[in-house]
Amino acid sequence: MRKAQSYRLAPSILTADFGRLADAIQAAQAGGADAIHLDVMDGMFVRNLTFGPMVVEAVRRATTLPLDVHLMVQEPGRYVADFVRAGADSVTVHEEATLHLNRTVQQITDLGCQVGVALNPATPVESAREILPFVDLILIMTVNPGFGGQRFIETSTSKVRRMRRLLDELNPTCALQVDGGVNRETISDLAAAGADFFVVGSAVFNPQGSVADNLAGLRAVLY
Ligand code: DX5
Ligand code: ZN
Repeated sequence: MRKAQSYRLAPSILTADFGRLADAIQAAQAGGADAIHLDVMDGMFVRNLTFGPMVVEAVRRATTLPLDVHLMVQEPGRYVADFVRAGADSVTVHEEATLHLNRTVQQITDLGCQVGVALNPATPVESAREILPFVDLILIMTVNPGFGGQRFIETSTSKVRRMRRLLDELNPTCALQVDGGVNRETISDLAAAGADFFVVGSAVFNPQGSVADNLAGLRAVLY
């Protein structure tokens, strides 16, 4: 495992109370979150619809934490400038959603923003080989994108291990993020496999515990 300080936790607001979004975000910041993860869905790339740049802008006003925007939208290049303008610190696009991935990645970099590429569960690690030298973050989806609260796909852990090996070879400083079904049961194996940036939705925002306790519980497993 890596040094505990190098692990980052990014609560996803997808399962938060949208009527009290600013409170939820401030609770995450007070509880020691390292970033806020924002799931943008277009009803095309995934079946769900969430929100656009206006909400990102509102979240920007509610926190000083980095905003990590995950675009689950078809042809994301059409929107990246809007999200950067809204206050995104990093923008992640899906490899499966854009025909000209290298161009879209370059576009985000040129906007002065950190850039990530996400892979769906069925997309092989090897298919990202050519884009790895150009990105700041790789996101391995550990559920099929679209909804919070889904069950972790067990084969993801070995996929993370294989992606870490490829990154060691081609882009060792790149962040390796996981998203979907991350909780106290799954996080330590993912960390051991080489993930260092954890998106956590329902294991942080849930009726069972406070945001701060839930974050502390996850950290406790990583230490
Ligand atoms: C799923 C989203 C995730 C989601 C994670 O499509 O990308 O960020 O909110 O939620 P949990 O942690 O509940 O699986
Ligand atoms: Zn996400």
